[in-house]
Amino acid sequence: MLVAPSLLAADFGNLEREMQWFNQSRADQLHLDVMDGVFVPNISFGFPVLKHVARLCQKPLDVHLMIVEPQKFIAQVRDLGAYYMNIHFEAVTHHHRVVQQIREAGMHPAITLCPSTPVCLLRDIICDVDMVLLMSVNPGFGGQKFIPHTLKKVRELRALIQETGSQAQIEIDGGVNMETGRQLAEAGADILVAGSFVFGAQNPSQTIDALKALS
Ligand code: DX5
Ligand code: ZN
Repeated sequence: MLVAPSLLAADFGNLEREMQWFNQSRADQLHLDVMDGVFVPNISFGFPVLKHVARLCQKPLDVHLMIVEPQKFIAQVRDLGAYYMNIHFEAVTHHHRVVQQIREAGMHPAITLCPSTPVCLLRDIICDVDMVLLMSVNPGFGGQKFIPHTLKKVRELRALIQETGSQAQIEIDGGVNMETGRQLAEAGADILVAGSFVFGAQNPSQTIDALKALS
């Protein structure tokens, strides 16, 4: 299993210290939750903070944009050196155009679905993206409870990927812990995002190792 700790649950007063242990951990990538107060009912952090984090982080950046009109920020996300630029399906009209623009900018395009957005809507874009993120909570806040219906969506997405020959990875975000992580691994997830479960743990590095051992 690949693991993407979410910075949202980190100690923002000690970002350098957080990134020091993170760089030495076995985490696969850093998940960055950008919220605009419009697409979601919360505001997190923007480019001034992201630039600082990007400078400190030695692992690939997975930038999850919970914002309207994410296409306006392709150049700024690229300038961070982001690996995945992750846009919400619900925030964009011309998915194909935006996905191509992200790829042309040199990043890996990813699309996120809210809990109530069905997997079948991805059929005509699944072969153009490198990752699909299924939200297992309603986006906007860390520390929420996992929505069990997500497991069915993971199985549906796995079947769609197999049927179409897509190379997309399946990432899950929200309410991930050992128990839900185990269920998600069984359903076919490739990458687990974990915020409070990792950053709130007594030993975050060991918690990452435990999640990575799921298969
Ligand atoms: C929620 C964010 C998540 C959040 C997950 O809108 O997209 O990435 O940080 O937090 P936990 O793991 O605490 O549910
Ligand atoms: Zn996220």
